[in-house]
Amino acid sequence: MNRKIIIAPSILSADFLNIKEALTDIEASGTDWVHLDVMDGSFVPNITFGPKFIKDIRCVNSLFFDAHLMIEHPENYISDFVNAGCNAITIHAEAVRHLDSVLNKIKNTGVKTGVSICPATPVESIIHILDIVDIVLIMTVNPGFGGQSFIPYTTDKIRRLVALRGDRHYLISVDGGINLKTINDVYNAGIDVAVAGSAYFNAENKAEFIKKMSNPGI
Ligand code: DX5
Ligand code: ZN
Repeated sequence: MNRKIIIAPSILSADFLNIKEALTDIEASGTDWVHLDVMDGSFVPNITFGPKFIKDIRCVNSLFFDAHLMIEHPENYISDFVNAGCNAITIHAEAVRHLDSVLNKIKNTGVKTGVSICPATPVESIIHILDIVDIVLIMTVNPGFGGQSFIPYTTDKIRRLVALRGDRHYLISVDGGINLKTINDVYNAGIDVAVAGSAYFNAENKAEFIKKMSNPGI
C-alpha cells in the first residue's frame, strides 16, 4: 500500500501574531489544506476564534479551509462560517440534537460537509448519516487542546469506517496526537486526511515533514 494522504496543519499551535507567515509557510510546505479549530468554551474547555478571524485570514492565501467546529448549537453559525470562506465545515455529532438536519443545512450551502465524533463515541452513532457527509473526522484525542497523546483504540474506528464506506465517497480524517510516530497506524488503518498541530509547528523542516507524513508507506 503506497497511497498519498492529505495533511492538514492545524493553526491551533501557531503564533497568532505571525499568522500570515504561518499560512504562507503552510502553502509553501506542499499541502493545500489548513485545519481551523473553532472552540466555544462550552462543548470543549477552551476558546479559540470565530468567523471574523477566519474571514480576515481568508484574504491572504488560497488554502482549503477545513473548519472543525467544537461548539454547541453550530446550526446557528453555519452561514457565518460559509461567508467567512470555509471550504469544509465539520460539526460534532455530540453537539447537536438533530444531526441529520444540521448536516443537510451545511450541505445545502455547497461547502463540504463533515461530521466528527469524540474518542468514546461509537461509529454506530453516525451510521445513518454517512450518505450525507463528505468528511468523517475521528477524534484521536479528547477535543479541546493541542499537544495531547494519541488514543490507540481509535484506529478500530477508522477500520470500521473503511469497511462501511462501500460506494460512498467520504474522506476519513484523524485529529489529535498525530505525528511521525503515530501516523503509521492510522495510515495503515486507511485514513485519507491527517490533521497535525503541534507536530507540524515543531517540525524544523516543514516541507520534509509534510512529505514524510503524506506518504508514510515509503
Ligand atoms: C484538538 C484539535 C486539534 C488540535 C490537534 O481538539 O481539534 O485539531 O489542533 O493538535 P495536535 O496535533 O497537537 O494534537
Ligand atoms: Zn481539530
